[in-house]
Amino acid sequence: MLAKRWFALGALCLLDGVFSPASVLADSNAFYNLNFVQDLSLNLHLRHKFNGLITFSDNRKLVKPLVESHYFVSLERFLAVTLRLPLIIYGLQRTIPEPGIIARKTFVFCTVRNLRVEQESMFKVVHKMLEGRHDLRILFILNPGKPHQPSMEEIYLFFRWCWRYHFINVALTYQRIIQNDNDNFSTYDELFSYTPFPKISIQNVTDIGVAFKWEAVDVTDVKGYEFRVPVFQDYAYAFLLPNGKIYGIVGKLVAGFIEHCNGTLRVERTPDVNRFNYHNRTLTWPARGIIDIGVHPFTQLIQKSDEAEGIIVMSPTKTCLMVPVLIPRPLNRFMSFVVLNNGVLLVVILPLLMLGWQLLARNCSKGFFLAFVLFSMQPVNENLFRRLSNAYKMVHMAILLSFFILWNNRTGALTRAISLTSTPQQIHTVADFLRSPLRIMVTKAEVEMYFKNELLPKALEPRLLVVNSSTLMQHRNSLNTSYAYCASEGAWNIASFQQSRLNPPLFQLLSQNFCTSSTILHIPMGRNSPFRDAFFRFYMQSRLTGVFERWRAVSFKKAAHAGFIQVIPEDNSFVSMNVQDYMVFIKGYWICIGICVLSLICEIIWKNRVHLRFHW
Ligand SMILES: *[C@@H]1O[C@H](CO)[C@@H](O)[C@H](O)[C@H]1NC(C)=O
Ligand SMILES: *[C@@H]1O[C@H](CO)[C@@H](O)[C@H](O)[C@H]1NC(C)=O
Ligand SMILES: *[C@@H]1O[C@H](CO)[C@@H](O)[C@H](O)[C@H]1NC(C)=O
Ligand SMILES: *[C@@H]1O[C@H](CO)[C@@H](O)[C@H](O)[C@H]1NC(C)=O
Repeated sequence: MLAKRWFALGALCLLDGVFSPASVLADSNAFYNLNFVQDLSLNLHLRHKFNGLITFSDNRKLVKPLVESHYFVSLERFLAVTLRLPLIIYGLQRTIPEPGIIARKTFVFCTVRNLRVEQESMFKVVHKMLEGRHDLRILFILNPGKPHQPSMEEIYLFFRWCWRYHFINVALTYQRIIQNDNDNFSTYDELFSYTPFPKISIQNVTDIGVAFKWEAVDVTDVKGYEFRVPVFQDYAYAFLLPNGKIYGIVGKLVAGFIEHCNGTLRVERTPDVNRFNYHNRTLTWPARGIIDIGVHPFTQLIQKSDEAEGIIVMSPTKTCLMVPVLIPRPLNRFMSFVVLNNGVLLVVILPLLMLGWQLLARNCSKGFFLAFVLFSMQPVNENLFRRLSNAYKMVHMAILLSFFILWNNRTGALTRAISLTSTPQQIHTVADFLRSPLRIMVTKAEVEMYFKNELLPKALEPRLLVVNSSTLMQHRNSLNTSYAYCASEGAWNIASFQQSRLNPPLFQLLSQNFCTSSTILHIPMGRNSPFRDAFFRFYMQSRLTGVFERWRAVSFKKAAHAGFIQVIPEDNSFVSMNVQDYMVFIKGYWICIGICVLSLICEIIWKNRVHLRFHW
């Protein structure tokens, strides 16, 4: 293993005269004629205007002299002389400082002995050092050190590796050596490149030769490149309708982006995945190069998020506790008031009056009757009143008066009950919560995320009810008010949509004392994905034009329409009546009036006839 060595050279003019134009890069046992590489590099430099060079090579000793001359040359010196650009040299050492100074227009050379990725450690170094620099132009020089020609399959696998790590501007050159006699052989320089879109395809550009140049890989037209997208039903962000269409705000965003760049969306249903086990199924796929982009966003709170890679697009979110709103029930309260006040009074007055009447007049049923007359505030008629004894008159008046007060009291209570909805003590603090009998329904994953790290108050831990994810979703989706739940922003958006027709709502979000700190939502995407910039631009456009908000609204409606989420219907048992409700009565009234007028007219006519007949 060679020691790390890197240096930047300006134009190495001093050495200029030393080299012969026919240079050689060779192993201790093989020649590599650099003529082709030299001409190619010069041509590429003319086209692409590089401003720096990097080499990856484990073979930087001076090489064997050329047959017909006595000069030695290494790739690095050769490049510095030919291209006169600053040069960074990397060996095989793995612990190299971050290549922060690599400019965008750097030309990378990499010599390898073998195209098989598992046998050549240089590939690992290149991948590590150039992570996220998928746009750099890289020339791989295959120098096996023996007359060996790679098979097409080896070349294909090599380019597959390139695409997996998102190196898109890659060329591969090697020398085909044909030995004629003992000391007479001829070499042919082969040159290959590839394009990832729509499928990885190798281009043999040998006949273009030194005139080769990299066509800019255009990620805004991928010509039908297939994007695999695994989807589970997550109504806040992405889900599939029964007809196979993807919806949800991120689902629409990703599908829109894929359409925008002329790709093909291949949706894969992942029925055994849900939001609570996402972290050890599909979450890390983009980071591992299995897929290009995911539709289920994640935050740093989710387990294994450190193994995932994503692109930040959405605003910060937090998870809060969602508790049922304690709903005041004015009419229930009124009924209990009536029962308590009037009922008790009636129960007291009734036997008293019955007893009194029985004693005075031996007529207890009269007392019963009188009690009810009084209760509905009807004074007894005059005849009856006169017949009462004086004492009883006083009692009657007194009771009548007290009932007058009672009735007013009752009317006042009714008014208050209808106009003032005195709200019961809602939950605002941990103490309030602990005073209520509520329990919090959570899954194991949520306990890990929110309570083990004390992101939510530890005092709530005795109140946790740990269930499996399907039970939790069943209860939360039907807005079962017997429990409290942890609600991420997405879950809360769904709940708000479900209860949007209710006033007062069923649940409230405790965004004061029961929240985790804010975290940022990432959409899964590899750190060095070539689609990052284009995707971000697409996202910004959708945001600025308002399409993004529309997707949100449309997605919820679609989910509701497909029966995935239920919107709780308006509770209209206590709505006020309007003119329409009285219309039947009003119509009936007018019909009655009409009939009356008609019969009056008939009667008048009838009478007049009879009168006339008399006079004849
Ligand atoms: C090498 O071989 C080729 C053809 O086989 C021949 O034309 C050429 O003259 C030879 N060169 C030398 C230096 O022997
Ligand atoms: C690449 O193309 C050149 C010229 O067209 C040809 O001679 C060579 O055999 C091809 N290489 C492979 C591996 O097919
Ligand atoms: C999209 O890709 C197809 C090939 O799948 C291609 O024919 C078409 O020209 C592309 N459209 C645009 C706008 O680039
Ligand atoms: C997910 O993680 C759990 C442990 O956290 C493990 O038991 C399980 O096998 C994992 N599942 C998959 C599909 O990796």
